[in-house]
Amino acid sequence: MSQPTIESILQEKRLFPPDSDFSQNAHIKSLADYQGLYDRAKADPQQFWAELAENELHWFQKWDTVLDWQPPFVKWFVNGKINISYNCLDRHLTTWRKNKAALIWEGEPGDSRTLTYSQLHREVCQFANVLKQLGAKKGDRIGIYMPMIPEAAIAMLACARIGAPHSVVFGGFSAEALRDRLNDAEAKIVITADGGWRKDAIVPLKEQVDKALENNAVPSITDVLVVKRTNQTIQMAAGRDHWWHDLQKGVSADCSPEPMDSEDMLFVLYTSGSTGKPKGVVHTTGGYNLYSHITTKWIFDLQDTDVYWCTADVGWITGHSYIVYGPLSNGATTVMYEGAPRASNPGCFWDVIAKYGVTIFYTAPTAIRAFIKMGEHHPKSRNLSSLRLLGTVGEPINPEAWMWYQKVIGGERCPIVDTWWQTETGGIMITPLPGAIPTKPGSATLPFPGIIADVVDLEGNTVPDNEGGYLAIRHPWPGMMRTVYGDPERFRRTYWEHIPPTDGKYTYFAGDGARKDEDGYFWVMGRVDDVLNVSGHRLGTMEVESALVSHPAVAEAAVVGKPDELKGEEVVAFVTLEGTYQASEELSKELKKHVVSEIGAIARPGEIRFTDALPKTRSGKIMRRLLRNLASGQEVSGDTSTLEDRSVLDKLREGA
Ligand code: WT7
Repeated sequence: MSQPTIESILQEKRLFPPDSDFSQNAHIKSLADYQGLYDRAKADPQQFWAELAENELHWFQKWDTVLDWQPPFVKWFVNGKINISYNCLDRHLTTWRKNKAALIWEGEPGDSRTLTYSQLHREVCQFANVLKQLGAKKGDRIGIYMPMIPEAAIAMLACARIGAPHSVVFGGFSAEALRDRLNDAEAKIVITADGGWRKDAIVPLKEQVDKALENNAVPSITDVLVVKRTNQTIQMAAGRDHWWHDLQKGVSADCSPEPMDSEDMLFVLYTSGSTGKPKGVVHTTGGYNLYSHITTKWIFDLQDTDVYWCTADVGWITGHSYIVYGPLSNGATTVMYEGAPRASNPGCFWDVIAKYGVTIFYTAPTAIRAFIKMGEHHPKSRNLSSLRLLGTVGEPINPEAWMWYQKVIGGERCPIVDTWWQTETGGIMITPLPGAIPTKPGSATLPFPGIIADVVDLEGNTVPDNEGGYLAIRHPWPGMMRTVYGDPERFRRTYWEHIPPTDGKYTYFAGDGARKDEDGYFWVMGRVDDVLNVSGHRLGTMEVESALVSHPAVAEAAVVGKPDELKGEEVVAFVTLEGTYQASEELSKELKKHVVSEIGAIARPGEIRFTDALPKTRSGKIMRRLLRNLASGQEVSGDTSTLEDRSVLDKLREGA
């Protein structure tokens, strides 16, 4: 069960129109309604977004210009004043939603908590005051390195409330990765926990923070805030480290939201690219608030009775937009789960759905493939009848997995939204609207209203239907990233120059290959650059290579992806050794461990292949294409005439 191929998607002709009962009650009720919205947005994008911004959000002060586009730099709702924590919390308190569950949390060991809108508001305000007392001000960056506990969402919203951009670092990243990110963002405070639960073990988060900050390695940090979660013994550095619950004691729950300029930075979130260190993707307040809000509302068709659950981690953009900001801005009930399916409880997801009556469930293809492998008896032995809508995100979903999801989890009654987007796009870009757009297994279907998506060649020309090309976006949208933190030139280079601008028109290059079929449906094929997608997590080949060569035994390393049934892709590393080092099983293990400690478990190579030399061109470029062929056991295909030394290839073949 591998990634979809061009052949397989061309054969995929099944069509699933929305159920008429579903459509009748949906926000967007028919293909004609979608088409109408789409055409209106295309004809006058500024009017379209301005109307939504006015109707869907609260502004302290209205903008004077909807869009200021000086490619590739964009501003939306210029001079508007807004606060996303106000839109996520305060405005619901004057309605019946005051006592509605905002956040339902389930811990891995089985503990749980529910916070109503009014309770969540109180916690956020109190914690915002704690941050202020530590001297945090508007514009200060704050690191968040936490398990999936309510305090993670509270911390994000509190940062947003005082106008301090957060930078959430996934709790699975290593101390080294954390250090790099905190340094790049020049964070002032880090918020963490003593530990977090992950597959029946404790992840020692505070210990990792200590390691990251050792020898004053992040000089900008003044304070560390620690939530007590797992109760194991940790070191607390006097003056620097504080328990969250200690500082919170007796603090006022009155904290007015900072009126933010629409274009003030809301957060920076690091993601991998094909070159260099991870980039800090910058999102700003007004546009992001609107885009995450309206995509959540229409794509998940939020109704007031829904119990919505997205299984992502808040360390990724999916957690930002579709666990925290999008659902709360809409006044929805959002579920947060600390655990993951594990040997001791492979059915835990289905237990959560049954326990809370989850109606909307949003997860990743890699998880679905793992569920298939674990067996139908787990979901079948739970009551999943509350579900009415399913979603997937993170990588292309193969039609077999889509069909299984639809049948076994959705009971053939739930539409599936296969949502294509990226950290950079802030929110979902290509997706079915579940009451309106007929689905095809494996296709993300059509662009969201206001999104001018296309499949192009490298000159920016639209390619004919059913021919492969590069996924591109033609017009700015409110949720798009504004820049790479501290490096606007990198922003320009990475996203706006692969397709050269013509006549002053800029095209956003997404880094994905795609094709559009005769119905205008998009089929996303996966990355076309040196970015891997391992279990829905994005990983730069160069990052893993840098981690490998930082080990004394390694002279050179080249990393490629190999198709994997469960993970989508697996990391394979080709390594040459320094002078006296000998290839061995032992060394292979050690190198894998080294990568984990440099980056995190998501980057652990599945395989290390030792070799005397890497295949290079005469100009010294590693020919990764050949390595990809070798890694997946295929015949080496395409041109090899530029190889400097053909015997290298022969040796690698023999070695395999
Ligand atoms: C890359 C972005 C933003 C969601 C989580 C991942 C791949 C994402 C799909 C989909 C095919 C998808 C793309 C994209 N991707 N969703 N529905 N179908 N591919 O965010 O870490 O920024 O990664 O994930 O390759 O470029 P991310």
